[in-house]
Formats: sequence, structure tokens, C-alpha cells
Amino acid sequence: MSTDHAISATGLVKRYGAKTALTGIDLAVPTGTVTSVLGPNGAGKTTAVRILTTLSVPDEGAATVAGFDVTTHPTEVRRRIGLTAQDTTVDGLLTGRQNLVMIGELHHLGRSVAQRRADQLLEEFSLTDAADRLVSGYSGGMRRRLDIAATLVADPEVLFLDEPTTGLDPRARNELWDVLDTLVDRGTTILLTTQYLEEADRLADDIVVVDHGRIIAQGDARSLKRQVGGEQIQLITTRAEQFEAAVAILANATGAQPTTDLTARSATATTVDGVAALATVAATLRDAGIAVDDLGLRQPTLDEVFLTLTGSPADDDPADDPSSSSNHRKVAR
Ligand SMILES: Nc1ncnc2c1ncn2[C@@H]1O[C@H](COP(=O)(O)OP(=O)(O)OP(=O)(O)O)[C@@H](O)[C@H]1O
Ligand SMILES: [Mg+2]
Repeated sequence: MSTDHAISATGLVKRYGAKTALTGIDLAVPTGTVTSVLGPNGAGKTTAVRILTTLSVPDEGAATVAGFDVTTHPTEVRRRIGLTAQDTTVDGLLTGRQNLVMIGELHHLGRSVAQRRADQLLEEFSLTDAADRLVSGYSGGMRRRLDIAATLVADPEVLFLDEPTTGLDPRARNELWDVLDTLVDRGTTILLTTQYLEEADRLADDIVVVDHGRIIAQGDARSLKRQVGGEQIQLITTRAEQFEAAVAILANATGAQPTTDLTARSATATTVDGVAALATVAATLRDAGIAVDDLGLRQPTLDEVFLTLTGSPADDDPADDPSSSSNHRKVAR
């Protein structure tokens, strides 16, 4: 068993009747890092989390979490982990503070220690003002923060978060991301599932892309982006009369035919040489006396990565225009 991996799994298979929810998942999450399991509805994310948190037993394969086998030593595992499930777990009929104190007492902290821990977590999650209000009156974002605070009462070594920000508005999502940053700084190992490419990109050291119970790609955001055919150099010239010369320089440096937009004085070309090609373009433009409003290296977004890997967009958000779902999907960055 490996001690430098807080989570490790090999060949996890889970069947529900005729349906195979996981078809052989391997995972290795180094201690103190964040791994994001990224996939659309039904990919198998919750199934994997349930196995790793001992709530479900795999049909095949094995996993260790915090150094213990999830099947043979579930109690040892449970003592060292926290789980924020996909559905909210806090009690709406109690206040935020009452929820946290109760959980502390369930963990045998003793009343005064439980109270101190509750106050500390309420403060950390910006819930002090709402601490004595019933949770049923909390917003979705506040409830989610309380969920995570509740998971942290017992100070887990390994934290599992199943879609922590689904359903939150962008502001609440950002607040939660900041909270997770703090945990990461403190050295907590985190496995989080998400349907949001931006979230995986923002939080995770390593991203595991899951679809139909299989891992279809893995790596950091940068390497995943590279898998879809490299980066692009984009330039915008200041003056229209210098545009043609700039396009020629871009074509020359990249060996690729640039895509151009004369009205915007903008040209884009794919490159495999990244920063080196960018430096060449910058130097050549300067030597030729061509002024630019913008010149930069653009990585493909994780949305584009997902589209390339699976042939379909990463989510099925009804707000998306279905006619733009294939090649012209709107991307955040
Ligand atoms: N208890 C169950 N009984 C039968 N089928 C199940 C059960 N739990 C999950 N499944 C099926 O297994 C597959 C994976 O489900 P899972 O909940 O792990 O997906 P998910 O990635 O968490 O999806 P979501 O993003 O919607 O939460 C789905 O096809 C689901 O219908
Ligand atoms: Mg799920």
C-alpha cells in the first residue's frame, strides 16, 4: 500500500443489474493534492465517490483511502475522511450553529470543544451572521458552505466533495472556491467531482475525465488542453495597412495557415511550439515595425477538450443554444 497516495484505486467495477456504472476505474491521488473527477450526468462520479467513502462495495477492484482498504477496513477509512454528498445533509430545522455543534457531539468532541469548533468553522465560512438562523432559510450557497463546514468538524485527512457547486450562482461558486483554496493550503487531500470544466481547471492539480463509467483522459488542465492539438497564437494589428505583412509573419513562424478577420485586424494560427513561436512572432513584428494591439498565446478551453474526447459537449445545460452545440460552443475563456 502506498503512503504517499491518500487515495488509490485499481480496476473499480460497479454494476447495478444489467447496468455497469463503472467499468474499471484507476485513481491515484497524492497526499495534499486536489483531483477532480470531471464528467457529465450519469458518468459514474457519485458511484466512484460512494465506493471510496465506503458507502458502497465495488464488484471488482480495490481501493485504499488514507492508507486503509475501503472494503476490508471501512471503519478506519471513515475515521479519516469527510464527505460532502451531492444532496445537502444539514438539517433545515436546526440553526447553522446547532447543526455544527450536533455533528461535533456525534464525533464525541464534548460540548464545549464542539461549540468552539462550530464557531471557528462558522467564522471561516462567513456564516457567523447567519449562525443562529434556521438553515431552512439559508440560500443554496450558504447551505452548501454549511455542508462543507459540517464535513470539516472532525478535521478529515481526505475530503470528498460530490458536485459541491452544482446549482450555485457564479458568485456563490466563487466564494466556495475560495473556501476550498484555504483547505488546499492547509494540506487537505481533496477529491471533488464536477460537471464544470472551469471548476476542474480552477481547483484541481489533476483532472480525471470520466464518461460512461470509464476514464477517457487524465492529466493537468494544461496537458489535457494540449491533447486537442496545441495552442494558438493570436494577434491584432494596430493599423489595417500592416495587417497583411503581419499575417505573413505569423504564417512563417508557425508553418500554419492563419485564420484571419480583416475587419478586426485579427489573425490566429495553431502552433506546436508555443512560447518559442510566440517569441519569434513578437521579435519579427518588432523588427518589421508592425504595431500590435494584442499578441498572445491561447490555450484551448477544457470545454473544447471534452468535445474532442467525447464527441459531445460536457454538459446538457438547457440554457445552451442547441444549434451551437457542436463546433461553435460558447466557451468561458
Ligand atoms: N443505485 C443505483 N441503481 C441503479 N443504477 C444506478 C444506481 N446508482 C447509479 N446508477 C446508474 O449508474 C450510472 C452512474 O451513476 P452516477 O450517479 O454515478 O453518475 P454521476 O456521474 O454521479 O451523475 P450526476 O452528474 O448526474 O450526479 C448511471 O447510469 C445511473 O443511472
Ligand atoms: Mg452524481
